[in-house]
Amino acid sequence: MNAVIELLQRHRSIRKFQPVPLTPEQIQAIVGSAQMASTSSNVQAYSLIAISDEATKRELARLAGNQAYVADSGLFIVFCADLHRIEEASKRHQDTFHTNTESFLVATIDAALAAQNAAVAAESLGLGICYIGAIRNNPEEVSQLLKLPQLVYPVFGMCIGTPDQEPSYRPRLPQAGILHWNAYEETTMQQGIDEYDRTIHQYYLERTQGQTVTTWSRGIADKYQKPVRAHVKTFLEARGFKLE
Ligand SMILES: Cc1cc2nc3c(=O)[nH]c(=O)nc-3n(C[C@H](O)[C@H](O)[C@H](O)COP(=O)(O)O)c2cc1C
Repeated sequence: MNAVIELLQRHRSIRKFQPVPLTPEQIQAIVGSAQMASTSSNVQAYSLIAISDEATKRELARLAGNQAYVADSGLFIVFCADLHRIEEASKRHQDTFHTNTESFLVATIDAALAAQNAAVAAESLGLGICYIGAIRNNPEEVSQLLKLPQLVYPVFGMCIGTPDQEPSYRPRLPQAGILHWNAYEETTMQQGIDEYDRTIHQYYLERTQGQTVTTWSRGIADKYQKPVRAHVKTFLEARGFKLE
């Protein structure tokens, strides 16, 4: 259709990188693109911590459940939601600074939008990326390692680098299962799950030469059987985010 849409629809996470650091021009282009993402009321409530230090990368890889590609990536960037800067702006004008669930959401969404722009920019340069939500397995240790002030938290990391693998594309839910016209359509949503279960069943059979027999709903049900990262609320509150 056009080059941008083709690029977007060619995305797949990369988990094996060549040992090639990013050039300063690549980093500037990626971060510049991240910064031009839309941002709620221009608050720009995020900060990026770029990790060039190898020992810090290795420590982050460990804290993220020993995901080796964190250490092996050309650059690892931690995307943080940042209300600290806003608090500082408020202080300059002796204004009271209020934080609540809404401001937490605004900062988190801002960080995610910036990250996705960075991802697309990196992919347009022929680089590969992988988001790393697992840094929230140990968010307090990550925050201390990166010396994050109060009101800043690591939302996720992103591995960026020269791909050293050609993984297959992961099929998504059928469009009719996620696109609702004018109001939520429960029936088409349910049909979407049915159809996607068949797609994912086939996808895993082919990818694992018949070894993995599962469906999407089976995998998701397993994941949500127990609370996921239940420590996150306590962590956020300790970091000054008020979830009220
Ligand atoms: C917020 C977020 C966190 C993620 N965390 C991880 C992670 O810790 N480790 C990992 O290998 N992949 C991670 N992923 C990648 C997803 O598993 C991947 O995007 C998804 O399975 C779809 O596959 P694809 O990106 O290859 O199309 C994360 C993705 C997102 C958006």
